[in-house]
Amino acid sequence: AGIKGTSQERTFIAVKPDGVQRALVGDIIKRFEARGYKLVGLKLTVPSKSLAEKHYADLRTKPFFNGLVDYMTNGKAPVVAMVWEGKDVIRQGRRMLGATNPLEAAPGTIRADYCTSIGRNIIHGSDSFESALTEITLWFNENELADWTPSNAEWVT
Ligand code: TYD
Repeated sequence: AGIKGTSQERTFIAVKPDGVQRALVGDIIKRFEARGYKLVGLKLTVPSKSLAEKHYADLRTKPFFNGLVDYMTNGKAPVVAMVWEGKDVIRQGRRMLGATNPLEAAPGTIRADYCTSIGRNIIHGSDSFESALTEITLWFNENELADWTPSNAEWVT
């Protein structure tokens, strides 16, 4: 999934404001790099309310929606928005994140290793091909996505 024509799967991953505040950005990037995924988009941004509402549009009727949008947009810390590319990266990214509720996240996953609260679960990852495409398009302009070749590409694709 991506904006440009690429044969490789892409997903949208975001370190949420609590993850940035807690200095977990480096570890999260390291896990995706070490797994063999390629970083093709990266920016630090405080999303507008409109962007956060669109990003979480599916949840707009939930009781936690307003709190969720405020947490993402209040600017106490920015979001680190990323696009990662590689084989099965949408499903594999979700596995690396762990379950939405940290209580149910498998040991060794990002959420299990670093958080305890569903409302402060430090990271977002697209949950389907369709949401990956929607979210990448929402958060990034086409000219913000890099097209490059890792030197060890033959080992990881
Ligand atoms: P959701 O899309 O269900 O999960 P995920 O982030 O794993 O795709 O929910 C989006 C975010 O909403 C979730 O990461 C944290 C927040 N949230 C709550 O605060 N309380 C809840 O009960 C749920 C289900 C989600």
